[in-house]
Amino acid sequence: MAVTIVDHPLVLHKLSILRDKETSVREFRALCQELSMLMAYDAMRDLELEDATVETPVALAKVQRLAGKKLALIGILRAGLVMVDGILSLMPTARVGHIGLYRDPESLKPVQYYSKLPSDVGERDVFLLDPMLATGGSASAAIQLLKDKGATRIRLLCIIAAPEGIELVETTHPDVDIIIAAQDERLNEHGYIVPGLGDAGDRLYGTR
Ligand code: PRP
Ligand code: URA
Repeated sequence: MAVTIVDHPLVLHKLSILRDKETSVREFRALCQELSMLMAYDAMRDLELEDATVETPVALAKVQRLAGKKLALIGILRAGLVMVDGILSLMPTARVGHIGLYRDPESLKPVQYYSKLPSDVGERDVFLLDPMLATGGSASAAIQLLKDKGATRIRLLCIIAAPEGIELVETTHPDVDIIIAAQDERLNEHGYIVPGLGDAGDRLYGTR
């Protein structure tokens, strides 16, 4: 298992605005989409290519293109939805699945309320998307659900992660690679990432 921190200057700049409590819902949503695209660009650098030839207006050109390995973008509801949207603008043919989970506010344990996945998810390279990896309970449960449906190659993309969440996913699913933009200090007594960005779902959708 590997943890990759995508610390490109553009990512760090956008993240600085995302964290700011004065950032509007509209801007927050746009930034999450942009950050997801930039992170996916990095996370997909090892996608398989195949050789091909195309005719340019001048001559034949030897080119490389994606080998057509099937992808699945799986968003953890609610906040993962916006990451799906961002990455779909790069990979419009990817299949999309949704897993509905919320954290019980007392126990901080994930409660599943929905799941709809591509029927052939077991044959696909899976990118599991959620902006926040806090205790890691939600991500770990989602990964287990994907594995139960046959998925074998799973990458987890989160914008901000706490050390506790990384450790839980590393322990429960050592075969899953984690791609993040930042690792923060810790969780507070309410299970929020410090310094984090607050409640991602509320900031994305203007609820609270
Ligand atoms: C947030 C976030 C993750 C989860 C992370 O969702 O989007 O899914 O918390 O916390 P964990 O790592 O401790 O499990 P939340 O439970 O607030 O649900 P929501 O998106 O529906 O508001
Ligand atoms: N979920 C969030 O949206 N933010 C946190 O800091 C922790 C869990």
